[in-house]
Amino acid sequence: MAIQKEQIKTALAHVLHPEKKVDIVSLNMIQDIIVQDKYVSFTLEMPAQNDHLAQGLSQGCEGAIHKFIDRDAVVDIQIGINVSQQRQTPPPAPELTASPLSGVKNIIAVASGKGGVGKSTVAVNLAAALARNGAKVGLMDADIYGPSIPTMFDLFERPNITIQKKLIPLEKYGIKLVSMGFLVDVNQAMVWRGPMVTSAIKQFMNDVEWGELDFMILDLPPGTGDIQLTIVQSVPLSGAVIVSTPQNVALDDVRKGVAMFHKVNVPVLGVIENMAYFIPPDAPEKKYYIFGQGGASRLADELAVPVLGEIPLEQPIRESGDNGKPIVLADQESAAAASFLACSANMQQQLAIRAAQIPKDLSISFTGKSPSAHT
Ligand SMILES: Nc1ncnc2c1ncn2[C@@H]1O[C@H](COP(=O)(O)OP(=O)(O)OP(=O)(O)O)[C@@H](O)[C@H]1O
Ligand SMILES: [Mg+2]
Repeated sequence: MAIQKEQIKTALAHVLHPEKKVDIVSLNMIQDIIVQDKYVSFTLEMPAQNDHLAQGLSQGCEGAIHKFIDRDAVVDIQIGINVSQQRQTPPPAPELTASPLSGVKNIIAVASGKGGVGKSTVAVNLAAALARNGAKVGLMDADIYGPSIPTMFDLFERPNITIQKKLIPLEKYGIKLVSMGFLVDVNQAMVWRGPMVTSAIKQFMNDVEWGELDFMILDLPPGTGDIQLTIVQSVPLSGAVIVSTPQNVALDDVRKGVAMFHKVNVPVLGVIENMAYFIPPDAPEKKYYIFGQGGASRLADELAVPVLGEIPLEQPIRESGDNGKPIVLADQESAAAASFLACSANMQQQLAIRAAQIPKDLSISFTGKSPSAHT
């Protein structure tokens, strides 16, 4: 049976800090727990670098997981430094600290429960639609294992670094872009472990010169597992857009996506139904619902989330992705471009509705995640 996150905490609560005589879970030393089947990874946060207790505690953690949960579990422990453990007073809440993203007005995650449903295609074209309408837009490729942004923008350069060691995003079609694909060989990223992914995302937020942006779009990796959950928790999201194809199996995954964002108090702005229908180029009067019709709207009713739009299944959409210029910019007058522009307009409308629902005193920092404001 797959290991559960709560089991990890319960097992690690058996490990005592030898000097403080308190267990390491109560001391808040365990962070970024990620579980996938029998693979368990987490960060053991020590108060100082080369802390003499790190190795012993780390062995204790591994032993506790093998003893109390599964002796075949693969345990991967990163040693982190948390200087705040030395403070007696708790650190200020994240929303009260000056955010490196303070110039970014809206951060929107594009997610899907299932892989290959067109998340990156939608993320890229939403960014392009917003930029086409004059907004300042950034696109963060949070798909560390399978980055698509370099190909979809035909951009394979390395970004420059400022004197303050901040990464300068690459820019194409007026969109600021950051992707792991610009920085490392993709095959190298494939062997990254959970906490490394989380820290890469944190760096994409904190160590990048994003500047002033009206919108930052986040292209998430497929799925709703621990890695996705950790990412959406580490970014101060304004809202999420879920991409689905019309089949039942994909729609089941939408449910999981909506549940994941509810868990972290991020509003779901709506569902985009991709590959919704096909119009043969030589018979434009015909419209085929290859994967079924109306599934997304039924589900949207059930889950009380709006449908932001339908995107046709079209060869030019795929080709423009492969050729490095989003269809919204490559063929501005096409029906496909119009469908993405409509999704972008509906998404902005939903954002405006959400912003209007946030009480005035909680809406000062739109970029700072304020869980109580997201209800
Ligand atoms: N509406 C569409 N019409 C035609 N092709 C599409 C459409 N949407 C996406 N595609 C194609 O389907 C493939 C998968 O799309 P994409 O990479 O955007 O999916 P994804 O959900 O981001 O995948 P992953 O889960 O791997 O990140 C790509 O080749 C893309 O060009
Ligand atoms: Mg993708």
